[in-house]
Amino acid sequence: QHGNPDVPDVFPALKNDTFLRAARGEATSYVPVWCMRQAGRYLPEFRMKRAGQDFFETCRNPAACCELTLQPLRRFDLDAAIIFSDILVVPQALGMDAEMIPGKGPTFKQPLEEPSHLQRLLSPHAARSALFYVHDALRLTRHQLDGLVPLIGFAGAPWTLMCYMVEGGGSTTMSRAKRWLYQYPEESHNLLKILTDTVVEYLVDQVSAGAQALQLFESHAGCLGPSLFMEFALPCLKDVARRVQNGLRQADLPAVPMIVFAKDGHFSLQELSQAGYDVVGVDWTVRPELARELTGGKITLQGNLDPCALYAPKEVLEKKVNKMVSEFGTQRYIANLGHGIYPDAPPEGLGTFVDAVHAISRSLNAC
Ligand code: CP3
Repeated sequence: QHGNPDVPDVFPALKNDTFLRAARGEATSYVPVWCMRQAGRYLPEFRMKRAGQDFFETCRNPAACCELTLQPLRRFDLDAAIIFSDILVVPQALGMDAEMIPGKGPTFKQPLEEPSHLQRLLSPHAARSALFYVHDALRLTRHQLDGLVPLIGFAGAPWTLMCYMVEGGGSTTMSRAKRWLYQYPEESHNLLKILTDTVVEYLVDQVSAGAQALQLFESHAGCLGPSLFMEFALPCLKDVARRVQNGLRQADLPAVPMIVFAKDGHFSLQELSQAGYDVVGVDWTVRPELARELTGGKITLQGNLDPCALYAPKEVLEKKVNKMVSEFGTQRYIANLGHGIYPDAPPEGLGTFVDAVHAISRSLNAC
């Protein structure tokens, strides 16, 4: 009954729930592992499939998204799948045209330069129906996974989306987006509210389409520093967590674990651990013991191997993984990189990483 909103899908039974158990804080016999951007250009089969295709066109093609999501699972013993899509489909659904320019990255044709430009945006309601293709991709992929591992849905956090909408693309300083926070605080809150409303409905719809966990990407936390983060980013993150779980209850959908990953947001770890999420992601700049201390030792942590460690010789990489797993501990822990895998990472490196996490955590658990 694909695509019929009146008939809920019956999905294949889940065979490996280790990732979900760790996310919920339940005991696991080994540490589950997945990799941010695991569907990506470091895989030759990904480059083949993507060749000659427009990036956002691919995002709008559910069969292509499904295939790209499954590719890394055929090679590696990963404990979760993440749907192939992009955080920028949300600004697009709000009416902003984006292009992926090779070598430059995502680019908006008409960025938001001043508050009057907010009038160009469509309503969260209109955005909701424009995103049906992501839900079709999730539904198809959840069926095709056949219960192998859980399927993760995701969205960009409101502040990170605002960065791209105001900057028009990537930036090292985010100074245009931050200028809004200082010059137009009220209008910034208005924009963040529109994004929060849109992201909440988008994520509830993702669960209805088959997502079994949700991750919020706050990729541009670092440039804010603590005070702007607490004022502009954190309240949105809290709203999203609370309103998504409420929305799921109201729609009679199952509660799903929610993950928040604030890149370079070490200063916010304590607050994030109390923001309504089940899992807090950490990048490689934070020592595991400090992350445990700041988050009170009670929440599940996810991370944090330096993506560049995948370039190391096998034995060096295994040692790094051993140290990381020993320091985080084998419980309430999901192994991952500290950010997305780089396009020039050797695929064997990811294989070594995944197998080492499993082997080392099993042997630590046996002690
Ligand atoms: O993790 C996965 O495998 C799922 C797919 C996924 C993509 N983007 C696919 C993608 C996810 C979860 C994202 C999230 C995303 N997109 C983030 C947050 C994560 C992070 O890295 O901080 C951000 C900031 C974006 C925006 C975006 N999309 C950027 C900055 C780029 C890179 C541009 C470049 O040229 O390097 C993209 C492109 C993108 N998104 C690619 C993939 C596989 C590569 C481009 C391609 O396939 O042609």
